[in-house]
Amino acid sequence: MKVLLTRRIPSSAFSALEAAHDVDVNEGPSPMSADELKRRLAGAQALICQLTEKITAEVIAAAPELRVIANVAVGYDNIDVPAARARGIVVTNTPDVLTHATAEFTWGLILAAARRIAEGDRLVRRRAWRGWALDFMLGTELRGKQLGLIGAGRIGRAVAAIAPAFGMTAVFARREGGRSTASEATLSLDELLVTSDVISIHVPGGPATRHLIDRKALARMKRSAILINTSRGTVVDEEALAWALKERLIAGAGLDVYEREPEVHEALLGMENVVLAPHLGSATRETRTAMAQLAVDNVLAVLAGAPPVTPIP
Ligand code: DGY
Repeated sequence: MKVLLTRRIPSSAFSALEAAHDVDVNEGPSPMSADELKRRLAGAQALICQLTEKITAEVIAAAPELRVIANVAVGYDNIDVPAARARGIVVTNTPDVLTHATAEFTWGLILAAARRIAEGDRLVRRRAWRGWALDFMLGTELRGKQLGLIGAGRIGRAVAAIAPAFGMTAVFARREGGRSTASEATLSLDELLVTSDVISIHVPGGPATRHLIDRKALARMKRSAILINTSRGTVVDEEALAWALKERLIAGAGLDVYEREPEVHEALLGMENVVLAPHLGSATRETRTAMAQLAVDNVLAVLAGAPPVTPIP
């Protein structure tokens, strides 16, 4: 059967796919355009795509034989899921394998923002460091502080599990009908915003969470608070965040995701109190290889008539 791969994947995963099916790989460095996707999907039974490709209803309509869309990401807001479901196409993602890499990276951003690591690096590189001083480039200590987590899925929980190592108390935002265990402290979203020292976002993207963190939410946070986002850029209103950082309504931020990737809001680029990473949450060799392998396993299963390994919820 024919499988379209929108980007190259690690060779171990690729070999398993190629041994079983006819694989068409896009070798170009950029994401495939809608027209290119539509053209190359005609006659394909499977698609392995990444979050940079928009799999719209129109793209899906151009693929009459498509049986499975395997996204090499845990998030799937790039896919029109209702359009796929209406056609009986299975959609899969890559949960679990990237949980720890993303949680580690989230802590990297928390530490970088709290202790001004990226800002210090820039200062040293432009030869502006004049030497040690008692009051020089002071940051915020994490010990004894509250970490507020918006999102209690796998990644949010993995981030929370590390909090005690830094002497922080983790609390989760309560969600109507959401999962929570007796051992987890929960607060309403508003209480969490008002009382947390570091707030880290771990909810899916899409219309339900768009601009969950807006001007009003930012204005509720402590002036000393740090906001971290490693989920989807659309969850935070970037314009509002730039305003809050400029007005010092919050102390800092650490971002790995943006509203219009790879574009970053112009105002944020000029600010010292925000750490800007280029969507690296899951970017370890181990994790990216495991993500690609899981996407391939999903395609192999569906094309063999078996249930997918990790269908989207
Ligand atoms: C995902 O998987 O959704 C991340 O954003 C990329 O690893």
